Amino acid sequence: MRNRIAPSILSADFKRLGEQLKETEAAGAEYIHFDVMDGMFVPSISFGMPVLASIKGHTQQVMDVHLMVTEPIRYVEDFAKAGADILTVHVEACENLVETVDKIHACGMKAGVSIKPNTPVSALEPVLDKTEMFLIMSVEPGFGGQAFIPESLDKIRELKNLLDTREIQADIEVDGGIYHSNVKEVLDAGANVIVAGSAVFKGNVEENVKGFMEILSANE
Ligand code: DX5
Ligand code: ZN
Repeated sequence: MRNRIAPSILSADFKRLGEQLKETEAAGAEYIHFDVMDGMFVPSISFGMPVLASIKGHTQQVMDVHLMVTEPIRYVEDFAKAGADILTVHVEACENLVETVDKIHACGMKAGVSIKPNTPVSALEPVLDKTEMFLIMSVEPGFGGQAFIPESLDKIRELKNLLDTREIQADIEVDGGIYHSNVKEVLDAGANVIVAGSAVFKGNVEENVKGFMEILSANE
């Protein structure tokens, strides 16, 4: 699976969002990570469909939407219409996970399934052979700028082994507390889609993305 960086716009400067997207694209980011928070599944509230619809098509980037929302099945069609390409839901938020993944596919998107730091990899079992991407949270979902939880590396390795053993081709995305300084460990553990918010949008965006791209391609 190819290595990719997915800048999380949660840490962007929203008055310059369009320009900043272009900067990440020019530096080589093929994905944009779009964090949706409902104030229920997580304490905070972020942004939703209208913002996605307004940035969709501004760049060629893949819209990688991370729903931190209770019962996300309620919003699958809305996010498809707004322009999501990959729609990721949380195991912990879904009453019927299999039905939710099936609905994401029926609406023409790729499905992602995520687990919080205290949720075991085994919780992914029901959807292991029908999901294009698995997202291991390496911080408690809800806020940018938190410290990477080191035990996440074991979960990435466990999931990678499980997928390899079953001969399942799926992306492993990791989200939270990733910087130039620790991204190699995350890649070495088996991840190939790297979410970074603070490490991309604090400082020079193009240089930050290029720094990640160099490490990603050196570890392909
Ligand atoms: C946290 C979000 C992340 C967040 C990552 O709930 O899912 O995508 O933006 O931010 P950093 O890279 O700053 O930890
Ligand atoms: Zn996220």
